[in-house]
Amino acid sequence: MKMPKPIKYEEALERVRKIFPDHEVTVYDGDAWQESGLVEDASGAKIASFRLKLVERGPKTIPDVSQISIGEVGKFCGDRFEGETWEERQGIPVYLDYNATTPMDRRVLDVMTPWFLAPSNAGSRTHIYGQNAKEAVEAARKPIAELLGAQPQEVIFTSGATESNNLAILGLAEYGERTGRRHIISTTIEHKAVLEPLDRMRQLGFEVDLAPVTSGGYVESETIQKLLRPDTLLVSVMHANNETGILQPVHAISDLLQGTPTLFHTDAAQTFGKEVNELRSLKADMVSISGHKIYGPQGIGALLVRRRGAEKRPVQPLVFGGGQERGLRPGTVPVALAVGLGEAVRLASLEWETRGARAIEIRQQLLHDLQAVEHYINGDPTRCQPHVLNVSFPGLDSEAFMLATRHALATSNGSACTSANYKPSHVLTAMGFDEERISCSIRLSYGYGCNLNSALSCLARLPMLIPSNDSTVTEK
Ligand SMILES: Cc1ncc(COP(=O)(O)O)c(C=O)c1O
Repeated sequence: MKMPKPIKYEEALERVRKIFPDHEVTVYDGDAWQESGLVEDASGAKIASFRLKLVERGPKTIPDVSQISIGEVGKFCGDRFEGETWEERQGIPVYLDYNATTPMDRRVLDVMTPWFLAPSNAGSRTHIYGQNAKEAVEAARKPIAELLGAQPQEVIFTSGATESNNLAILGLAEYGERTGRRHIISTTIEHKAVLEPLDRMRQLGFEVDLAPVTSGGYVESETIQKLLRPDTLLVSVMHANNETGILQPVHAISDLLQGTPTLFHTDAAQTFGKEVNELRSLKADMVSISGHKIYGPQGIGALLVRRRGAEKRPVQPLVFGGGQERGLRPGTVPVALAVGLGEAVRLASLEWETRGARAIEIRQQLLHDLQAVEHYINGDPTRCQPHVLNVSFPGLDSEAFMLATRHALATSNGSACTSANYKPSHVLTAMGFDEERISCSIRLSYGYGCNLNSALSCLARLPMLIPSNDSTVTEK
């Protein structure tokens, strides 16, 4: 990736001052490569620190700046800061991390509350409380099945997409052993909730091929076709990638597998309730979904296990107990959560088009505003879900940016499950990007609850952090 030209030292300082208007910005001498600085408010309290990466430092030249990083006090220099920060005074952060989790819809909470308060076990068939609970759980199954073009009895409630993926993959181990099919195909960009069960299958003696993806972030169906073998047990390809929003060619892949004994699983955690028509018509044997990506509760999801004619289901349970969920996922069904998921799905099936249109509006606005600064969209924009934008800003240190803006803006640069420890994204790496490009990438994901104006005003600060392309080097 082309890096921007360094900017003049004074211009770099001016940008920092613009981000912290009305504050004292002081630079401390660093070494030949960088200088650090502190931002103080009127009372002298230190509210942020920053670092200027320097280039071309010589006896007669003033340095130029190739990167501005802003961070917590103590991160780059100075003492630990205690107390209210500049960002905190602006109010709570704007949430732009909808792919990690969505806020729950108030309407969903309202239908769940009575079920939390009533004694409700759908397995208690001897009294009215149990019968009512069973009725509610079965009613919740229906909109989920409808959105997947499936029968309600094919929907198995789980704790979320992680468990669904585990059940879909590890639950096939016995069947694979019995039928002598020990080969699995997936992709390099799957969520860890697929990659890790696949690792486990490897340890159990299965052979796993991870198909590479294009620089546009999608696997080509021809790549999957080339990997197929007579002993291929399963193909597991996610519907859309959680980091980039790039849709995968799941229909073309399912077409490849029609009439073969190879099973097809898709992790649809990011598309269920959004890519409604595509999922409803998809001929997949198994589909994983999650409640908290569609304004439903956390802790509930489902695995669709489609029947193939009169054949016995090949998937075996991973836990054993009271036989609930057709024996595939024993344990008391959390009635309130199931009801909440059902309601979230019912609302999504009514509103998905207006939500999609709103996401397109936000995306267009974002793309328009980002024209002010050099950036690269990660992934093929023609295949991207409208509510996700994974974007690289040359020169931006994305970790430092998120730290500096964390009181104003909630974004991420990877999957929520892996972002606690920074490691270059395995998804962007698989797309062929180098570490430099990955380290300046941010994932923006939004939804219908999003405060567009505050989000955009926060993002408008981005360009100030990024050295521009047209600046030149000057000599004193
Ligand atoms: C593609 C994908 N699969 C699986 C998961 C895990 O879902 P859950 O949190 O419901 O276990 C996520 C959540 O980030 C995801 O984005």
